[in-house]
Amino acid sequence: MQGSGYGKAILIGDHFVVHGARGIALGIPKKTTVTVERAASLRFLFECGDMLKEATRRILKKVAGNTDYEVSMESELQPSAGMGWSASYSVALARAGAKAAGKELTRRQAADAAFEGEKVFHGNPSGIDNTLAAFGGVMLFEKGKEAEPLKVEGDFHFVIANSGKKGTTKELVEKVSLLKQREPTLFGEMMEEEDKIVGGAVTALGEGNAGKLGELMNENHALLEELGLSTPIIDDIRRIALENGALGAKITGAGGGGVCIRSARMRPWTC
Ligand code: PMV
Repeated sequence: MQGSGYGKAILIGDHFVVHGARGIALGIPKKTTVTVERAASLRFLFECGDMLKEATRRILKKVAGNTDYEVSMESELQPSAGMGWSASYSVALARAGAKAAGKELTRRQAADAAFEGEKVFHGNPSGIDNTLAAFGGVMLFEKGKEAEPLKVEGDFHFVIANSGKKGTTKELVEKVSLLKQREPTLFGEMMEEEDKIVGGAVTALGEGNAGKLGELMNENHALLEELGLSTPIIDDIRRIALENGALGAKITGAGGGGVCIRSARMRPWTC
């Protein structure tokens, strides 16, 4: 039995969504496909670490009631790059495991089952990645609430550039939580600022205003930089993108490496 889940890119709100702020994310058309077959006990047909094994156990238990499956996986996404690989795997596995147990999950059920895996991968996940992996589209997300599809007017083009360096989401989420504990007032002010950026981005998307959205992405990046999540390579990617006509550029995902997303003019370009 097979299932798939998509990757995502966070447009505004990375990390702040973990602490209850609103965020905006896009589903991206790159997927992970998981196949499960009944077996005497849990077996993996690919190399995987303890976290992935534990997440797999939890998800299979939730959707199929037991873990006696042989699991194989193929992915178009790179792990630890900020594009939601773990959520795409978790949603794909939830769908495949449920099918093997004779059930078809709704998108909400697939997102919820995948959240069990995300708890293992991220420690304290917001739920934005598994939501986008199950639903796709362009979503306004707030932890604990149903995500809302956003109205998007006209064409927006985004380019995702990979820094080639891996960032560990769990460690980076913990790092931001420590900063919040150490500087609660400053963090609260940053959360308010981030929420204003989200409000502006909802309007910019609804009005087809790519220039404004780019500015807001830059403002969001400045907050993420203040949290210590950028890297010299991400800074270089941003500088080169902005010098070459990108409307805005920011880290997307956990940071500390990973990918950078930029809002491009009409013609998307790659690097
Ligand atoms: O880097 P990724 O793809 O694992 O994305 C993490 C997104 C965070 O906002 C940093 C964490 C979360 O659970 O929302």
